[in-house]
Amino acid sequence: MKRAITRVPVTAAVVRRFVAGETRAELVPVARALLESGRAVSVDFLGEYTTDRGQADAAVAEYLSLIDDLAEADHTVPGAHSDIPRVEVSLKLSALGQSLGQDGPAIAAENLHKLCAKAVERHVWVTVDAEDHSTTADTLEAVRQARAEFPWLAVALQTYLRQAEGNARDLAAAGTRIRLCKGAYQEPGTVAYQRRAEVDASYLRCLAVLMHTAWYPMIASHDPAMIAAALALAAENNRKPGDFEFQMLYGIRDAEQRRLVSEGHALRVYIPYGTQWYGYLMRRLAERPANLAFFLRALTDR
Ligand code: FDA
Repeated sequence: MKRAITRVPVTAAVVRRFVAGETRAELVPVARALLESGRAVSVDFLGEYTTDRGQADAAVAEYLSLIDDLAEADHTVPGAHSDIPRVEVSLKLSALGQSLGQDGPAIAAENLHKLCAKAVERHVWVTVDAEDHSTTADTLEAVRQARAEFPWLAVALQTYLRQAEGNARDLAAAGTRIRLCKGAYQEPGTVAYQRRAEVDASYLRCLAVLMHTAWYPMIASHDPAMIAAALALAAENNRKPGDFEFQMLYGIRDAEQRRLVSEGHALRVYIPYGTQWYGYLMRRLAERPANLAFFLRALTDR
């Protein structure tokens, strides 16, 4: 299927629109161009649910090199080098070994520590992605532990989870940097809101918590309603552009990304790359039919 897709020009173009390439060599110029346009970046080396220790080790090795390459790219781009790092990596603990049986969470935590230690050396940030709900407790615990040494480490929070508002309060109280997103996995009603209106309402409740109390909230949404609410709450809470940031996926709402930057707001683009793009795109489509409309909409939005 993957080979077939890359042979069809239209679908290959779709892949290229959302994925920055298969290798670091392809990724780096894309990241540099975004930095030159005034945007910050967060780069995801694609891969998840690793069932092989060797693969987890290879992912760590790739991330170590990626951190170096992004730091170098950042240095070559002129512009203000503020306290807020312009380059970041996003990672999934399941790619670092979390699903390797009983020892998985400990292996992933050790790998996370290794990457944070490298990142701090290079003035690069790290955010841990949120995966399916069966991993949430382990992920939050790994981030809590790592933050004792790396307090800038961030985690993504999915507002479709019924526990999201409670998590937002606890994480904000602990001073955690939080990426607020709606959530992209197909989850059961026992743990997740199923109706769009409920997910949006949860997003707005969590957003209010973060904008009132949290350190550096990150609004990861393409939704005009969420962006408008974030701007209103920022004004209400006297938050300046450097006190929070917007985040969007690579290839989605590019014009809106540029508009926010031109108005002085911080905006970070989440850029996936790697050979595992097929899984990234297909899983998003297969797990949640609404994601098909999400990608199709992006093709018509200029
Ligand atoms: P949503 O899909 O709810 O659509 C609302 C409105 O936004 C639309 O009506 C339209 O106006 C606009 N819109 C949305 N998509 C558009 C498009 N493609 N083109 C034009 N307009 C569009 N998920 C997860 O489970 N774990 C994670 O770790 C992350 N990480 C993450 C990082 C970042 C930086 C982002 C932006 C997103 C994630 N996600 C994620 C994905 C997230 O949970 C969610 O699935 C998508 O962002 C879609 O939700 P939205 O809030 O963007 O809009």
